[in-house]
Amino acid sequence: MALLRFVLCCLVEILVLPVTLLQLLGVWDPLYKKFFPYMMRNISISINDKMGKVKKELFDQLPDFASSSGLTILEVGCGSGANFAFYPWGCKVICIDPNPNFKTFLESSGAKNEHVRLERFLVANGEDLSQLASGSMDAVVCTLVLCTAGNVDALVKEVLRVLRPGGAFFFIEHVVADDKTWLHFIQHVIQPVWRYFGDGCYLTRDTRATLERANFSKLHVKHIVAPLTNVIKHQIVGYGVK
Ligand SMILES: C[S@@+](CC[C@H](N)C(=O)[O-])C[C@H]1O[C@@H](n2cnc3c(N)ncnc32)[C@H](O)[C@@H]1O
Repeated sequence: MALLRFVLCCLVEILVLPVTLLQLLGVWDPLYKKFFPYMMRNISISINDKMGKVKKELFDQLPDFASSSGLTILEVGCGSGANFAFYPWGCKVICIDPNPNFKTFLESSGAKNEHVRLERFLVANGEDLSQLASGSMDAVVCTLVLCTAGNVDALVKEVLRVLRPGGAFFFIEHVVADDKTWLHFIQHVIQPVWRYFGDGCYLTRDTRATLERANFSKLHVKHIVAPLTNVIKHQIVGYGVK
């Protein structure tokens, strides 16, 4: 099985060689980063349709983490602002994403969701939240981001830094399927092509393990089989308290 997986991965790498060359020449990323927000905006409409109940149940717990001055949420890897519809009335939202091309989509989502106050959009990686003070956030949100981040441990460490004591990190993330399943095999075989067309996304990450070794005082994690494309149907949903 390991040999078959290796051979198939090599074949997929060969098929995707033209894109690898464009990537090496520095052409692929800038083009794809312009196109991705359009694609993501449409995909997230369908995701919200199918995952609305899961998102509602999770984000309904956000008000439990409000402080005396209200609820300030930092959304890391905000994309087009697909989660705004599920945020509580009157919350302040600060958004961070490394892709500046999401700005128009984000502002449009902010305008449609008058119950949230979109305060700032910062262009940065979640691994470097140095523009934000330590202990300044009541909640941090990531959905479908930890699969893409360059260094998930560093990102979670920054999340813990900017959260106030007692604040919480809310997440919905797809994860690798169980070892020895066909899905696990397929996730590994298509990874070389998926990374280019999924904006650097890894299907093969065990994000649950990363969160379990981070320093949360409490971690609530539920594994679900989401009504989405097979390769991203295994997801973890929950929150960790600082
Ligand atoms: C699949 S999209 C999800 C967008 C949004 N969270 C949603 O659920 O619709 C992944 C997002 O993570 C962002 N991203 C990629 N690498 C990141 C990083 N290192 N730190 C923060 N965000 C990142 C991408 O630019 C993109 O907006």
